[in-house]
Formats: sequence, C-alpha cells, structure tokens
Amino acid sequence: MTAPLGKGVQDTVIKTTEPILEVKNLTKHFPIKAGIFQRTVGHVKAVDGVSFFVNKGETLGIVGESGCGKSTAGRTLIRLYEPTGGDILFKGKNISKMSEGELRRSVRKDIQMIFQDPYASINPRKTLGSIISEPMITHHLYNRQERREKLSELLEMVGFNPSFINRYPHEFSGGQRQRIGIARALALNPDLIIADEAVSALDVSIQAQIINIMQDLQAELGLTYIFISHDLSVVRHISDRIAVMYLGKVMELAPKKDLFEEPLHPYTQALLSAIPVPRKKGVQARERIVLKGELPSPANPPQGCVFHTRCPAATDICRNAVPEFKEVKKDHFVACHLF
Ligand SMILES: Nc1ncnc2c1ncn2[C@@H]1O[C@H](COP(=O)(O)OP(=O)(O)OP(=O)(O)O)[C@@H](O)[C@H]1O
Ligand SMILES: [Mg+2]
Repeated sequence: MTAPLGKGVQDTVIKTTEPILEVKNLTKHFPIKAGIFQRTVGHVKAVDGVSFFVNKGETLGIVGESGCGKSTAGRTLIRLYEPTGGDILFKGKNISKMSEGELRRSVRKDIQMIFQDPYASINPRKTLGSIISEPMITHHLYNRQERREKLSELLEMVGFNPSFINRYPHEFSGGQRQRIGIARALALNPDLIIADEAVSALDVSIQAQIINIMQDLQAELGLTYIFISHDLSVVRHISDRIAVMYLGKVMELAPKKDLFEEPLHPYTQALLSAIPVPRKKGVQARERIVLKGELPSPANPPQGCVFHTRCPAATDICRNAVPEFKEVKKDHFVACHLF
C-alpha cells in the first residue's frame, strides 16, 4: 500500500488509555407496528445491552454479519437514534439524555460520521468547495477568509488539487467522493469519527488508499475512530481493538492481535475461520467452522445466550442464562459461559 500523504506518520500516533467515549448497556429496540391502528406488536432488538469504551486516539473496529446491529449502534451512540436504554459518556459527559439543543451546542460538532455512499448525502448541484464548506457555514464557524483558508487546508489533507474546487460531485470517482466525505467530516474539527462501511463499496486498491488517508489523518490530528464494517479483513487492517457483534450484542472485544491469535468466543472462532489466512511454513491452516442453522431474527432472539442455537459448544446453561460480558484476560472481554 502506498501512503498518499507520504508523511510516514505511523510512528507518531498518540494513543492514550483515556476513554473519550464510554457506552454502558446501550439498547435500541425498534417497535414493530401492525394493523390499521398501527399497534406495537413487538420490538426489533437491534442493539441489546452493549458496553464498550473507546480510548482517545485509537480505532475501535465493530464487525459482524449483516443485521447484527452495527449501524444502529453507531447511530444510537451519537443520538441520531433515541436510545431505548443505557448511558453514553462522551468526554466524561453523559449525552444519553441531553436535549437536542444542548447536544447541538456541546457535542454535535465533535462527533462526525462517514457513510458508505457519500454521494447520497451530498448535493449534486453544489461544487466541491461549497460541499466541504457547508458544515462550517451551518455551524457559524470562522469568517469568510478563515473558511477559505480552512477549505484549502482540508483539500490538501485529503489529497485534492485546489483547482478542483469548482468541480461537481459527478466528476469524481467513488474513492474521490469518499475523500470529499472525509474532508467534510473534518471541517468541524471533530474528536471522534464514526465510519460506517466507509470503504465497503470501493475496489480493494481504493479501499487501501482511503484507509491510508484515514490513518495518516488520525496520527496528524489525534482523531479517534469507530470503524464499522462487515468485512473482517478491512477492520483488521485499521483497528487497534475489535468488537464482534452478533444479534444486537457484543460477543467479544479484544486488542486486534489477541482477537486474531486467540479468539475465545465460538462465534468469533467461526468468523475467523471463514477468512483466508496466508499460508506460512509450520503454521496450521485454520479449519473452517460452518455454523449450523439460520441466523435468528432480532425481533425474536433466542433465550439465554443469543448464539446458543448455532453454537457448537452450547450446553444447558447457554439455553437458559444470558452470559455476562466479562474481562477474562487483560483487555479481553467475552460473553460466553465457557469462560
Ligand atoms: N430504522 C429502523 N427501523 C426498524 N428496524 C430497523 C431500523 N434500522 C435497523 N433496523 C433493524 O435492526 C437490525 C439491525 O440493523 P443494522 O442496520 O443496525 O445492522 P448492521 O449490522 O448495520 O447490518 P449491515 O451489515 O447490513 O449494515 C436489523 O434487523 C434491521 O432490520
Ligand atoms: Mg450497517
């Protein structure tokens, strides 16, 4: 991979052990409505009691199959969705019950999101310059001259030629549009960026380029990332620690190396067994673990451990009791009765 910003900043990453975000028992249930009176007949338990923290300057990856609640978790923790329960502490402040006005004044700027399809959220009739400047105008940040300076700084940060300023979104490729999305997110000097499938729609070589830009910017600006993807190899590349989700719950959370070298949860083991490993002399290839049965619905998750219906190691206790999410080794958390 080439580093587009070419600063070799990898060594200067400042990572602390001071949490910038703490999520405690976060829950988001969507009501299921039916009939002519639109009565609530049930709930989709999209996120169901999730706890984790993110340290300043690090990247926490969130991975899991489609529908396990990754996007809902990302949106709920910044209050794009109203949480059903739980606490969200951002820079020590509990934002889970803050009013919209207070959120706008004190945290909205500090947390930005990057989505899979930046084209969907940008106005095709606006130029690159006005798309990136828009958040600064909306938030009354800087005067006109300062905005112009900030704009050229942002363009440079994501590797755009300043002469592109008057071009329209349709003139850009997928990777360039994602760089517009990043520049726009950075316009407000955020501390935390939540990237939800930010590179999932791009070709592998472009994915690498975007990830490199994100890593360089992280080192340069001290950014903290939550990087959400269904693609374990992408998450592996960028993350310091990884949370594995299944049916609305975090099953395992560990530093990347520990998770890959010693996955503890049977679900994580199955996920890892599905990704190809480069063959090394003397290293046994992982045996592919094929999970039995179908993925249950989050509207009707299994009792006890939500994974028990597909778990090769399930016993009676798994069918009856919800396993506690606990730290079984230093920094290695798992929700499984085997531990
Ligand atoms: N606004 C909503 N209203 C009702 N149900 C929703 C809503 N958003 C998500 N869900 C449901 O919540 C569950 C979790 O969805 P979510 O989009 O968070 O999963 P995901 O892990 O991001 O999946 P993917 O990998 O496909 O992006 C799914 O069953 C989904 O259908
Ligand atoms: Mg999603």
